[in-house]
Amino acid sequence: MSRLAIDGGEKVFSEPAQSLPVRWPPVYPETAWQLADLYMNRKWSFYGPQELLFNEKFAAFTGTGQSVMMANGTVTLECAMRALEIGPGAEVIVPAHTWLATGSAVISCGATPVVVDIEPDTLCMDPQAFESAITGKTKAVIPVHLLGSLADMDKICAIAAKHGLRIIEDCAHAHGGRWNGRHVGSIGDIGSFSFQESKLLACGEGGACVTNDLHLGDILGRLSHIGYPLGSKQGVPAEPPIMGLLCENYRVTEFQAVILLSQLARLEEDTRIRSEGAEYLRRQLNAIPGVRVQSPGRLATSQSYYCFVILIDHHQLKPGLTREKVLEALTAEGLTKIGTGWGAPMYKQRLWTIPENMYRIESNQVAEDVTYRQALVVDKGWLMASRSDQDKFCAAFAKVMAAYHQ
Ligand SMILES: Cc1ncc(COP(=O)(O)O)c(C=O)c1O
Repeated sequence: MSRLAIDGGEKVFSEPAQSLPVRWPPVYPETAWQLADLYMNRKWSFYGPQELLFNEKFAAFTGTGQSVMMANGTVTLECAMRALEIGPGAEVIVPAHTWLATGSAVISCGATPVVVDIEPDTLCMDPQAFESAITGKTKAVIPVHLLGSLADMDKICAIAAKHGLRIIEDCAHAHGGRWNGRHVGSIGDIGSFSFQESKLLACGEGGACVTNDLHLGDILGRLSHIGYPLGSKQGVPAEPPIMGLLCENYRVTEFQAVILLSQLARLEEDTRIRSEGAEYLRRQLNAIPGVRVQSPGRLATSQSYYCFVILIDHHQLKPGLTREKVLEALTAEGLTKIGTGWGAPMYKQRLWTIPENMYRIESNQVAEDVTYRQALVVDKGWLMASRSDQDKFCAAFAKVMAAYHQ
């Protein structure tokens, strides 16, 4: 067994991985020219042509009837719930392993998030845990298509239909992901996307709701455009919104739409490349004792990868060793762009501010074990690296685990 770099041995990466795309989001010179033109044209906001075009193309891409761009992927969740008339007294079921916005958006509508556990393989909401948490107050469920997997939409939809619940898909990580041929976000009542800078479609800040229900599409448009109907001109609200509908300004600018349009045109191909890279890594990593990779969506016909998640079975490590120690040793081998992710379930993240009496935890055992002790989260850039750099990536894991595995 070769000596680990952390113990003074030779590094697997004697030089940094050359093929690793270091910069995200991607930029294109032709888009820079378009942005400059837009700036000079002075039409920057309020259902400009680029926003309308993006909504049209994103609806077509996701196979939905309507897309509504908004300011970010937090207000998309809030508007989705408000459009479905979820408010005080209602319970909304969310997975324990997700970004805090999935739960805090429920609070901002006056409803109660009910936290349930995840599946140990996909790390997405466990459908059985979802069904067990349903009460007479449950109005909706928010499955999250998390990191490098998809929630089991067949089971979740069947349970939701049985209990008369609405479904909001949180697709902040899953642009380009398809469940059994259908783009995520098109399966439930409303799909919510984030276009924040780290996301698979990224314009700095931004988001969109998609839906097949055109009435909901109209409400979503009004909720985010201070009551104006979809596509209308500023100053000319054709019909006023429904009395009592609290309509905010969550608009985007034309600049964001231009950036997203340039990425959307490449998303299908980039998703394919990342997915092939993930499969290449998965085959090697799953063969290393004590290591396994987050499973793709069970019926994924296209798996999106916001990140690539590797799980360390801490029970199989030598006494006293932890995931953190494995990460330290991997880093010493020269492996970059890998970390422990959020490092906690949603309700224990450092920025979570919701008092315990405002949400309920129904089940969380797997989520706690995964987030506190198992997950290593790898930057999506590795999925687009050269095969020889990916081989070295796996060699670093094999070397460290050979030394640390019992
Ligand atoms: C799962 C999930 N949902 C929602 C959001 C919120 O998106 P935004 O940052 O655009 O508000 C994020 C952001 O990272 C996320 O990871």
